[in-house]
Amino acid sequence: MQAKIAVLPGDGIGADVIAEALKVLRAVAQVWGHDFLFEEALIGGIAIDQTGDPLPQETLDLCRASDAVLLGAVGGPKWDDPKAKVRPEQGLLGLRKGLGLFANLRPVKLIPALLNTSNIKPEALRGTDLLVVRELTGGIYFGERGRRDGGKTAYDTMIYTEAEVERVVRLAFELARKRRKQVTSVDKANVLESSRLWRETATRVAQDYPDVEFNVLLVDACAMYLIRRPTSFDVLVMGNMFGDILTDEASMLAGSMGMLPSASLAEGTFGMYEPIHGSAPSHAGKDDANPIATILSAAMLLHYSLGLEEEARAIEAAVEQVLSQGLRTYDIAEPGSQVIGTRAMGDAIVQALVAGR
Ligand code: IPM
Ligand code: MG
Repeated sequence: MQAKIAVLPGDGIGADVIAEALKVLRAVAQVWGHDFLFEEALIGGIAIDQTGDPLPQETLDLCRASDAVLLGAVGGPKWDDPKAKVRPEQGLLGLRKGLGLFANLRPVKLIPALLNTSNIKPEALRGTDLLVVRELTGGIYFGERGRRDGGKTAYDTMIYTEAEVERVVRLAFELARKRRKQVTSVDKANVLESSRLWRETATRVAQDYPDVEFNVLLVDACAMYLIRRPTSFDVLVMGNMFGDILTDEASMLAGSMGMLPSASLAEGTFGMYEPIHGSAPSHAGKDDANPIATILSAAMLLHYSLGLEEEARAIEAAVEQVLSQGLRTYDIAEPGSQVIGTRAMGDAIVQALVAGR
């Protein structure tokens, strides 16, 4: 098949991990006979440096003209001045909003070979396989914010419409039907009005899915249960900020932030794919960052935007194989494993992919 993929490496280790994901996608194209056209554009801090704008119009146009977007990471201390007029993160948020990417899928699946790299007890962890569906274009991230009283009072607004809640909750139910048929809606309905609307709406939508088990959970309790009994969850659906926080927490179940991919989906098949980790500036260019989250994000791209199931599964299998051979980046190392760099990990995964075909 033919596909056009916009590539936005961004800042810090973004370029390092994207290079490895591209290696893997090129190998897929070659082995399965696809024609992927990759086109690069600027996002985040590097875009501020070169154009003054964290999201240049050119980048948005390229994304809109593509079938999918592959993104590395944005941000870094260089652009962290709290008084700065533009921030790298605005580029990412602008992309999410501008491309209508309302649902962020963050699967947390423990790869058996990594059972002992997490600091959670193996007996609690074994079998963890959950999917967080995070609402991505609403909530407190996009509500009105500002300062008053000469700057001494600051406010952010958490705002949700029924329609926004309904479309992301429906997607969560549709995804649950393809998994273990269980949805947990997460909110703070004992305090927040927007959460009461969220819970009402989710509970109403649940009635259309009698075959799917439905639960609600307060976000604070959910944070605890994710650690205490992670295997009790299948699909979790929640608002933007709760999803941001709980997925960093949940990444520890998989052993490292460096393992967690994500897909941000619009209506239809268009999507943007990125690791959930940040730009880790101190590791940039050092050839030690874990590229697996980005490589697994490329697998999600093949699955959700291009419908290439076999190829997506082959990437996942190659990752599992390399890890079970004991090859590790520093963040998932354990006694007896062989620690390798970013490029060597990418090469090993390509090799396993080609050999497995
Ligand atoms: C994430 C990140 C972003 C977010 C930042 C970089 C704006 O933490 O994708 O989880 O908060 O959404
Ligand atoms: Mg985050």
